[in-house]
Amino acid sequence: MNYFKYIRLWSFLEIEYYICHSPRLAAVMFNLILFGPPGSGKGTQSEKLVEKYGLIHLSTGNLLREEIANKTPLGLEAKKFMDHGQLVPDEVVIGMIDSSIEHHKNAAGFLFDGFPRTVAQAQALDKLLGLKGTEIDLVLALEVTEEELVHRLLNRGKTSGRPDDTNEPVIRKRLSVYNNDTSPVADYYKRAQKFKTVAGEGSVNEIFAALRQAIDVMMAS
Ligand code: AP5
Repeated sequence: MNYFKYIRLWSFLEIEYYICHSPRLAAVMFNLILFGPPGSGKGTQSEKLVEKYGLIHLSTGNLLREEIANKTPLGLEAKKFMDHGQLVPDEVVIGMIDSSIEHHKNAAGFLFDGFPRTVAQAQALDKLLGLKGTEIDLVLALEVTEEELVHRLLNRGKTSGRPDDTNEPVIRKRLSVYNNDTSPVADYYKRAQKFKTVAGEGSVNEIFAALRQAIDVMMAS
């Protein structure tokens, strides 16, 4: 796998979308986005939610860290952005998500964690899911104060080995990138009436219960 392959793959996909976009029957899927700033608990809650609802967990952060661990060209390129708290280019992460969705053709649904992070990524995800005759059902956003986020990430940095967790200026940069580039994604899904906020402070189990309640209400409607 390499960086340019993903870009080529995504360009091809865009062409395919325009040429052969037509609703295709897909088994009923449930597709959830767990949204929120760095450190808000997306990864922690995702583990519990995928177990409860049988979803496939797609975390772009985890996929990128795998590429880094395997020392692939894509990983080496992505690391330059990640270590400085910047976003990896859209084409790269969209291509990764496309391949991952393709690998799980019979999934009951997907839980997207850390993706989409820009409006361009959200639009691309709509196209990818549209090609499969499905869509995002719900976006749940974890709300946590900035000081709590910094505290959690610095604390995790003591043991995680993540370079982006050990340096407070890099953590603050990640939060400012979230405010500038990622928070508009919330408006995108608010317009589609798919967006709901959940308090992200409290015990892990309390937050999990609140997320479950929001999902169950949505599934029952
Ligand atoms: P990514 O891996 O997605 O990191 P992130 O969004 O910065 O999120 P984190 O993993 O830091 O936090 P989280 O919300 O998952 O919280 P967690 O559950 O771990 O992205 C890393 C980088 O990759 C980006 O900066 C970017 O460069 C790149 N990237 C990734 N996706 C991209 C994309 N789509 N486009 C472009 N670039 C992309 O919890 C955090 C800590 O808090 C843990 O220690 C946990 O134990 C603790 N905790 C959790 N819940 C609680 C609680 N309730 N109370 C107290 N502590 C808690």
